[in-house]
Amino acid sequence: MTGQPLPSFAAAGRPTLAQPAADPAARIRADLAAPSASIAPRWFYDDLGSRLFRAITALPEYYPTRTEAALLQQHLPAIVEATELHRPTLIDLGAGDCEKAARLLDTVQPSTYVAVDISAAFLHEALAQLRRQHPGIDMLGVGADFAERLELPAVVPEQRRLFFYPGSSIGNFTPTEAAHFLGSVRAQMHGPSALWIGVDLHKPREILELAYDDPLGVTAAFNKNVLRHVNRLAGTDFDVADWQHVAFYAERLGRIEMHLEALRQVTVRWPGGGRRFEAGERIHTENSYKHTVPGFRALLATAGLRTVEHWTDDRGWFAFFLAVPDLA
Ligand code: AVJ
Repeated sequence: MTGQPLPSFAAAGRPTLAQPAADPAARIRADLAAPSASIAPRWFYDDLGSRLFRAITALPEYYPTRTEAALLQQHLPAIVEATELHRPTLIDLGAGDCEKAARLLDTVQPSTYVAVDISAAFLHEALAQLRRQHPGIDMLGVGADFAERLELPAVVPEQRRLFFYPGSSIGNFTPTEAAHFLGSVRAQMHGPSALWIGVDLHKPREILELAYDDPLGVTAAFNKNVLRHVNRLAGTDFDVADWQHVAFYAERLGRIEMHLEALRQVTVRWPGGGRRFEAGERIHTENSYKHTVPGFRALLATAGLRTVEHWTDDRGWFAFFLAVPDLA
């Protein structure tokens, strides 16, 4: 990520704005040096990582994307109607390739589409194409890491904001962090506005663990690729061949955990420091929390958001919520 606005494409009406993260190298090194090492999941999404995630969503074992897409396909007119926002400003949190939002545009008919993603370059390409297909919609790309709190640039219209946070990305947050994040979304709602959010639900262990440890090894590649991205960001010298993918359902904590486990004793060096990992020692790379419908409704409520309606698939694997500011 650069601190400068990225140059706009010739076809683009507006440039993609990039908000820089605060010294990622120092943060990453500190997390690696901590007694239990971790790498924040936001670093999965370099260019290759974003492509690998896309490949994950095409795996038969990875049910969330497909289940959510079917839910939206089936219920979109009802969801739009229950939302009661005419020509909203559609704010897509974690837009990626903008493919999900592209399927909504004809029905939602936003006046403005704002795509927010940590991978600004990925976003920029996707938006250029979307602009050609929907010349009547004002489009804006924002390259930002909103994991800590959501802050939108002043150019984003304040009226009738419709926040779209699909894919159960909220699962990366602990319940406390999720409440905090949802509160920051609530704080960016002025007058009539809404949140559309997709949430992955608890289900049998075998199904969950196959979704995060697929037999083709795509999720393993996605997990290990974070080390190459970190090498570029923090000047570390990880060799991906020293590490293996580990994923399991920590049922008591209500989450899938992903780790990278050292296959042998490994010394990792970076400018000004380094650390040794014993064989079998792990780096925690991701939590993916699963929720229940009443539990998530309560979480929304703590952030000042009232659930208007929710939709689930027949198997009860995934839920899509419509929530609005709670004015009571
Ligand atoms: C993008 C956070 C929703 O937790 O399912 C997929 C990321 N990690 N496979 C998820 C992910 C491994 C994904 N989220």
